Amino acid sequence: MRSSGTGRCSGSYDVVGLGFGPANLALAIALEEHRHPVTAAFFERQNTLGWHRGMLLPSAKMQVAFMKDLATFRNPTSRFSFVSYLHAKERLARFVNRQDFFPTRQEFHDYLQWAESAFTDRVTYGAEAVALRLPPRTDPAAPVDHVYVDVREGGGSGAVSTVAARNVVISTGLTPRMPVGIERDRRVWHSSEFLGRFGACDRAALKRVAVVGAGQSAAEVVRFLYDTLPGTTVYAILPSYGYSIAENTPFANEVFDASAVDDFHGGSQRAKDAIWRYHRNTNYSVVDDEVIKDLYQRAYDDEVSGDRRLEFVSLSRVTGVKDTGDATQVTVHSLVGDQAAEFAVDLVVCATGYDAMAPGGLLGDLDAHCARHQDGSHVVERDYRLATSSPLNCGIYVQGGTEHTHGLSSSLLSNVAVRGGEIADSIIGRLLGETGSASGTPAVPGNRR
Ligand code: FDA
Ligand code: NAP
Repeated sequence: MRSSGTGRCSGSYDVVGLGFGPANLALAIALEEHRHPVTAAFFERQNTLGWHRGMLLPSAKMQVAFMKDLATFRNPTSRFSFVSYLHAKERLARFVNRQDFFPTRQEFHDYLQWAESAFTDRVTYGAEAVALRLPPRTDPAAPVDHVYVDVREGGGSGAVSTVAARNVVISTGLTPRMPVGIERDRRVWHSSEFLGRFGACDRAALKRVAVVGAGQSAAEVVRFLYDTLPGTTVYAILPSYGYSIAENTPFANEVFDASAVDDFHGGSQRAKDAIWRYHRNTNYSVVDDEVIKDLYQRAYDDEVSGDRRLEFVSLSRVTGVKDTGDATQVTVHSLVGDQAAEFAVDLVVCATGYDAMAPGGLLGDLDAHCARHQDGSHVVERDYRLATSSPLNCGIYVQGGTEHTHGLSSSLLSNVAVRGGEIADSIIGRLLGETGSASGTPAVPGNRR
């Protein structure tokens, strides 16, 4: 199906998915369970499935209930549910005996791998999508019903091959964000790469470490470093007074319901802004109460023992770092007194969050055919398809990067099962509309959707 280079392309898929994290895995399941079969191929940059591996800290728990898995909210009888996974692993009874809706991130990672094992024939790993482009055409006004996707395999110098796609689903995830003007280096890391770099570093050299940020990543890294490095002082640099709790109560949680996407997408700009204002504290710059209590207890225990190792540098933002040879000088600007201070550490972990997925980088020339709002963001239809203009007829869908159109759950797991089903329905509905049957293959009757 694939050709080498960026020239002509010999074959095409109904669906090409870029990235194979939970979003496109949920889509693969929805396509698999749909009664109209389609051809699909997925391309993933990593060499195996990996769900934020750099933050798979031993005690980290999920921030979403186990039933918001890859399939259950779309199809409660799916064989890819978390309950099916527990049953297959013979842990169902003991999981329930825990009386806790929230698995560890490590267990959820194992679940994702278990589900992924049914799709290995459709996924190419170590394959980075580098660009989408229009196929060569003799008539520039003729409708375009497929696009070319260039994929590089084997890293930076690897060969680029091309596939044709009637529909592309871009699900390439979040991008780590560093503080303005601060670059990563040997002693300055982003939390997304934390475990990999921590595993490779000289722990004995870490006498003073700083963790920047007041979100879940920062709190988890502070707890981990404090627990793992018994002789080390951990500086937690917080823009706020202390960590704020993630709003996780029943009414507020409804903002993540599948129906909330309709409210958001159909709402006025004023409504969208209000929803963000009221409910941002369900997800951003907030921390689970369990982790907050853990950290407070550790700081309190330090006071009791007189061995103070957890220092909170509150109401402060990091504005600069400088490698001074045997240490890194951190510049911190404090809101109190509006003044800057400096101190030296052996490691700085910037748990400073992520930028949302932005499809523009992959769209290339196709972007000219994609509609944008006045603020420059893409117009995304309710079915997650980018609004495109003639002659672009094929579907370009996005999972992620839709906070402005679909709301808070866009980058999260809460809605992956339902969203995957909605995208599968949209793609297959449009394919059937064009040809009378998806893939030219007769519909399979029976127990499918
Ligand atoms: P995700 O980032 O998981 O996957 C995208 C994939 O695309 C990656 O595998 C990447 O390698 C690949 N890729 C990127 N560019 C590519 C390219 N050009 N070509 C090919 N492949 C490419 N949410 C939640 O609801 N509950 C939770 O408990 C958590 N926990 C959590 C922990 C941590 C540490 C973080 C940082 C985030 C969370 N989240 C979360 C939010 C998180 O966004 C969510 O869990 C999923 O990872 C979203 O799945 P996606 O598939 O959209 O992105
Ligand atoms: P985040 O919530 O965006 O938090 C980033 C933090 O960094 C904010 O407190 C921000 O403060 C601060 N910050 C940014 N620049 C700074 C600077 N120069 N100096 C000091 N502080 C600075 O990011 P996150 O914690 O990585 O969380 C991202 C997503 O991952 C969330 O959805 C979260 O739930 C998820 N997550 C989940 C788990 C889990 O499942 N266990 C673990 C980790 C993360 P301002 O807001 O003031 O800029």
